[in-house]
Amino acid sequence: MEYKIKKLIVTGGAGFIGSHFVRLSIEKGFNVTVIDKLTYSGSLEALNDVRNNKNFKFYKESILDDKFLLEFFREKQYDALINFAAETHVDRSIENSADFVLTNIVGVQKLLDLSIDLHKKNQSFKFIQISTDEVFGSIKSGSFSENSKYKPNSPYAASKAGGDHLVLSYYKTYGLPVIITNCSNNYGNNQFPEKFVPLLIIKALQNLYLPIYGNGNQMRDWINVKDHCDAIMLILEQGVIGEQYLIGADNCIRNIDMAEKICNSLDDLLPLKNKSYKNLIKFVTDRPGHDYRYSINSNKIKNELGWRPKIDFDRGLKETVKWYLNNKTIWEKTLKENYSGQRLGLNKLI
Ligand code: NAD
Ligand code: TYD
Repeated sequence: MEYKIKKLIVTGGAGFIGSHFVRLSIEKGFNVTVIDKLTYSGSLEALNDVRNNKNFKFYKESILDDKFLLEFFREKQYDALINFAAETHVDRSIENSADFVLTNIVGVQKLLDLSIDLHKKNQSFKFIQISTDEVFGSIKSGSFSENSKYKPNSPYAASKAGGDHLVLSYYKTYGLPVIITNCSNNYGNNQFPEKFVPLLIIKALQNLYLPIYGNGNQMRDWINVKDHCDAIMLILEQGVIGEQYLIGADNCIRNIDMAEKICNSLDDLLPLKNKSYKNLIKFVTDRPGHDYRYSINSNKIKNELGWRPKIDFDRGLKETVKWYLNNKTIWEKTLKENYSGQRLGLNKLI
């Protein structure tokens, strides 16, 4: 009989993508243990609708804490560890990359060591590393594939690349069953407001200018967070050990066009008197080392595992804008307590 996955450890499960994945896992009847340090970008409220589920456990701990990792997992068995825990914002990595190196490289190494023990206790155990297309650097034309070279440009991307290299080295050296996923830019409900999409929506709703770095011609390849999580779930259940899968939804557009799409949705949902939200767009100083373009070729996961993104880009984006309109209290609290929307990444702090 085929072995069925039941018990998951989800590190970083209180973040944007992790919390969507935890919800999906609970819906599927998995037993989920979340380990999350609750840094500025993590929030237990993101897990409100699953917190009382009997299959859900939460530990406010860091993946860098050896004592916790060793003691907590000594007696326990799991089927998989899915690692979302990371420092994730390029602009913050430009200001200070120390935490990026710690969590995204050293933290991954600690999880891999722990996973060797978990694998000894359960031969079906696997380690899934959630990574990014940014490890491949910038691509002028065409798309990244699983054969693309790692050429990271920002300290964030470099730290994720370091983590990925360690993951593959544990597969080659120790035979630890691992899979790496590299996804493009996610958008969706409850993303931390430092990122482009929520930042623009929230600024627009406060009648503040919408900062577009440089000339706005840089391109990102957008995917709805729910499509990303469906892909991870499929990879968890059917992905081939030792393989890497690129995930994207073929929505590669210029930042200025993305900003205009967001403004169009807002014009539709909450029109201003006699003007468009587009009037709030302002071109500002470019990001240092700004990657020009990311684009993903996801033929491998489509052809080998039969995955397809389901959410139409324009519809998904409009639903996302609606979420921010309907959940003002959530992002207002974040703006008050964790991040007030200021420009990041122009000053090196150390
Ligand atoms: P996020 O910043 O919203 O969430 C990160 C989570 O990790 C937070 O809950 C935070 O508290 C937790 N965390 C950070 N350091 C930790 C530590 N030392 N120990 C335990 N928990 C810690 O980020 P996200 O957008 O949800 O990204 C999740 C993963 O997906 C990251 O690995 C990121 O590289 C990857 N990814 C993100 C995108 C994107 O567009 N957001 C795209 C591709 C890949
Ligand atoms: P971001 O959400 O930081 O994701 P990443 O840099 O990881 O792709 O930024 C997405 C794009 O939007 C990127 O090209 C930088 C740009 N950007 C702006 O133009 N203005 C902003 O205020 C922010 C945060 C990003």
